[in-house]
Amino acid sequence: MSGLVKQLRVVVEAKDYEEAVAFYRDTLGLPEEAAFSGPDGAEVTILDAGRATLELANPAQHAYIDEVEVGRPAAGHVRVAFEVDDSAGVADQLVESGAVLVAPPTRTPWESLNARLDGPAGLHLSLFQELGEPVLAPEYPVKTERLALRPLDVDRDLDDLHAYLSREDVCRYIPAVPRDREQLRKAYIPAKRPSVLRREGEVLCLAVEHEGRLIGDIVLFWHSKEQRSGEIGYAFNPEFHGRGFATETARALLGLAFDGLGLHRVTARVDERNTASARVIERLGMRKEAVEREAEWFKGEWTTMVHYAMLEDEWRDRR
Ligand SMILES: CC(C)(COP(=O)(O)OP(=O)(O)OC[C@H]1O[C@@H](n2cnc3c(N)ncnc32)[C@H](O)[C@@H]1OP(=O)(O)O)[C@@H](O)C(=O)NCCC(=O)NCCS
Repeated sequence: MSGLVKQLRVVVEAKDYEEAVAFYRDTLGLPEEAAFSGPDGAEVTILDAGRATLELANPAQHAYIDEVEVGRPAAGHVRVAFEVDDSAGVADQLVESGAVLVAPPTRTPWESLNARLDGPAGLHLSLFQELGEPVLAPEYPVKTERLALRPLDVDRDLDDLHAYLSREDVCRYIPAVPRDREQLRKAYIPAKRPSVLRREGEVLCLAVEHEGRLIGDIVLFWHSKEQRSGEIGYAFNPEFHGRGFATETARALLGLAFDGLGLHRVTARVDERNTASARVIERLGMRKEAVEREAEWFKGEWTTMVHYAMLEDEWRDRR
């Protein structure tokens, strides 16, 4: 490629200079390349923003992108787009640091997850996350004898989620605290609860449905691609406890983990006092591997954690 240009640098006048530097350098984490002072209080900071590209869009494309990502015209003549690994997480951080969320992460037809924000220095921002091909994309619903596992749909599921995730007893041994409807609506947007896995570090989240109602939700953490390892977790509405639904669901989830994702080792970590969950894990045939005495300071007290695991051969032998 032959060209005259060595670098694209976007120069922005920031009336709120200190705030803008703190936001783009410290919150978004763009490394400082240089900073200079000049006469009459002149100041400038240059931040390294990774690879630079110049996207030229005609008016029809400009309008189309706004429609897909925001649902209405939103961007001005110039929009600054940052590629990130986790657009939902970064968008949350930026909002905490003063950005205004214009549109939450939305899955685009070009397989990316894009959020829009208004940031300091008057910049209209995009955060885009390239999704790539899923490694695990089950055909939903995944049916078991009595249940169906399917993607969460927060609009449809909010009341059912709230019925148990607002309860103190359900949250006693899980990291989450009881949440109200608004907190759940934010936590359960599709971008934060994916139903496919694309890369290690992601979490698959599914609704468990029984006779048309969501009765619980389950998660599969994909810890490492190289180690082929993951971890399961779940919570169910107490109205549906004691009927084997959690066991039936967790078994199906192990199927997705071993047969679908091809994991070698799946773990579960249970608070020693959570005997109902330990019984679920043991019914599945997971082995107790370790008891970590008072290993975690959890919800105001030292907590002993019991670790369970199952290997791919053990899973196959049980089938
Ligand atoms: C953990 C949790 C899902 C367990 O729920 P559960 O109802 O005990 O589990 P299951 O749905 O598998 O039901 C099993 C019980 O139903 C009984 N049962 C009835 N019919 C059954 C069937 N067809 N198949 C299997 N078990 C059946 C079992 O005997 C068992 O009772 P037991 O444990 O007293 O022997 C539930 O306590 C919960 O949601 N807790 C809050 C969240 C949480 O702590 N999550 C785990 C974090 S590690």
